[in-house]
Amino acid sequence: MKITVVGAGAVGASCAEYIAIKNFASEVVLLDIKEGYAEGKAMDLMQTASLNGFDTRIVGTTGDYSKTANSDICVITSGIPRKPGMTREELIGINAGIVKEVSSNLVKNSPDTIIIVVSNPMDTMTYLVHKTTDLPKHRIIGMGGALDSARFKYRLAEALEAPISDVDGMVIGGHSDKGMVPLTRLATRNSVPVTEFISEERLSQVKEDTKVGGATLTKLLGTSAWYAPGAAVSGLVQAIACDQKKIFPCSTMLEGEYGLNDICIGVPVVLGRNGIEKIVAIELNDAEKEHMKESAEGVSKTNGLLSI
Ligand code: LAC
Repeated sequence: MKITVVGAGAVGASCAEYIAIKNFASEVVLLDIKEGYAEGKAMDLMQTASLNGFDTRIVGTTGDYSKTANSDICVITSGIPRKPGMTREELIGINAGIVKEVSSNLVKNSPDTIIIVVSNPMDTMTYLVHKTTDLPKHRIIGMGGALDSARFKYRLAEALEAPISDVDGMVIGGHSDKGMVPLTRLATRNSVPVTEFISEERLSQVKEDTKVGGATLTKLLGTSAWYAPGAAVSGLVQAIACDQKKIFPCSTMLEGEYGLNDICIGVPVVLGRNGIEKIVAIELNDAEKEHMKESAEGVSKTNGLLSI
């Protein structure tokens, strides 16, 4: 199993590290345009192999896409990250050009690959990869919901004063501060609805804290987060590589599901060796449907800024 990660910045390097530590891939290629940077990160990570007990070979390259040839899965993290006070949508101008070029180079060298898009604004970048490559839709996946759901579970556990392993919950919708739809109604603590334990008011706070999860970290760190994004990507990569058939919310091209068309937005999907193997349609209540509709309007507006 060969995985390529484009962008050796904090998110890309974290992805490579978590993938390697989980020890299911034979090779991870880390590619960056900054001279020597990916090679340096790869060497540093390889020097953790004997300490962390993995056999995955991590190779770095400065822009040589031939090294990525025949990758089973390619992850795109390249582009500029958010600065404090910026929205993900403000990154579109620069990142669209980068993502278009990177995805075209990846597909040329690995025509059968599965692409996972992380660059922001992620739903729109996923849509761009659909419109500018000829990969089938089940092989283009946007990573946002897995991260937002992890942040949701963190906030739920905090509110419930419970261990995170006791908590389950999912965030669908767009990967943006306004667009996320945390499904509080379906969140549980060990199968018991969380509404049995905390007030509606506290749950609304959990919802709001989840939606600004990325912005909160950007303010604290001065740039966007990397550990949880890297771990979330590695979860998707592992589900595909190991054919796990796990459900994650991912951004995928919708053709009528959830009443939406010609848009990439987060919905629950089954991930296996073929990429997105199924879109899971869950029955939303009226408020959730309305929230999802507003979220889709926001993503469509951002998509409208693309010149494809
Ligand atoms: C975040 C970025 C990866 O939410 O979108 O941290």
